[in-house]
Parts: sequence; structure tokens; C-alpha cells
Amino acid sequence: MKFFIDTANLSEIKEAYDLGVLDGVTTNPSLMAKEGITGQANILKHYKDICDLVDDNVSAEVISTDFETMVKEGKELAKIDDKIVVKIPMIKDGVKAIKALTDEGIRTNCTLIFNAGQAILAAKAGASFVSPFIGRLDDISSDGMALIEQIVLIYDNYGFETEVLAASLRHTMHLIQCAEAGADVVTCPLNVITGLLKHPLTDIGLEKFLADYKKGNS
Ligand code: G3P
Repeated sequence: MKFFIDTANLSEIKEAYDLGVLDGVTTNPSLMAKEGITGQANILKHYKDICDLVDDNVSAEVISTDFETMVKEGKELAKIDDKIVVKIPMIKDGVKAIKALTDEGIRTNCTLIFNAGQAILAAKAGASFVSPFIGRLDDISSDGMALIEQIVLIYDNYGFETEVLAASLRHTMHLIQCAEAGADVVTCPLNVITGLLKHPLTDIGLEKFLADYKKGNS
């Protein structure tokens, strides 16, 4: 199971990487804007800065919505670094762009997936990753995790090589349930990754071990 961090914040990316468990980064235009990164030159430079912090798998999202411009933009993004995965929205021209970029050997991540039909189309087009948004489905009283299970089953049925990249995770239970469901990748904020560390019995146990050591060695 791969762990991606869903942020454009360089210090959070570095913190997750330094933990030794990070396999990649996902960004989107909202996350870039949150970091105050504006203007095409700054955006491209920021993607390069992210690539320099991690080993592979940096999703960079196109902002165009027509086939020709998406392909052109995708190629420009892919030129930044071999680690770039071009993120394309699940729209008709997006599906065509995924096929075209895949045919040129450029990896893609099909984003804004909210049902199994969209996931099948993305896989048929040759997407490297498909990003179903769990939290946003849960937010509107739909079962985000059921979608992950459904996509994993369908991809297994046909041996699709597209990796299921569970996105829009809100908490650690989402991550654990994704692991149970067989998602290939999760992308989540730093607090969801570090949240996995926590258990009060660990803290109490460590405190007691150290206190007992001190008693015997003072
Ligand atoms: O990057 C895509 C996805 O992870 C967005 O998450 O929290 O904005 O629904 P969120």
C-alpha cells in the first residue's frame, strides 16, 4: 500500500518524507492556491520543488478542460520532472487526454471520480491512477468506502493495471478501511498519516518503561 500526502505545503511534505513512509504527493489547484502559489511560472517551479523532496509520484493537475489544451498542458507538466503524474479530471475530453498522454508514455491520475462507471472509463483509457473521493461522498451521505470496495473488485475482475488511489480522506479510520478494501494508494493530509501513530496505551506503556528503567538505574 502506497502513502501519498495530499498537500502543496513543502514543510508538510518534508515531514512526511522524513518519517520514511512517503511514496508520493498529490496536489490540486485548491491546494496550490492555499499555499499562495499563483502564476504559471511559480506553479511550475513549485511542482519542481515538490519533486526535489520526494522519490516519485507527484500529481500535478491540469487546469484546462478541452482535449488539445489538456494534452499540451500535460506534456508541459511531464517535462518538469520524471516524477510527475499528470492529473486529469473525469470529463469526456479528459478521458481522451488520458488515452493520448498514456500512448506517449506519460503517467496520469484521473481525478474527481465519484462512481464505478467513471473508474471503469479511466482504466479503459489507461490511467495510471484513479482517484475516487471518499470524504466528499461521505459529506453528502453517500458511502465513499463502498465505492473503493466496488472499484477494487471491478479492477481485480479484469486485471486492470490502474491503481486505486483513494483520495479525500478525512481521518485515520478512512485509511485503515482503505487498507482493508485493498486500495493500492491512499492520499491524505499529514495529520491523517501522523494520526496512525497515536494510542494512549503506547504513551502510558512508554512512560512506565522509562520510569522503571530510571528506578533501577538511579
Ligand atoms: O486532492 C484530491 C482530494 O484528496 C481532495 O480532498 O479534502 O478537498 O475533499 P478534499
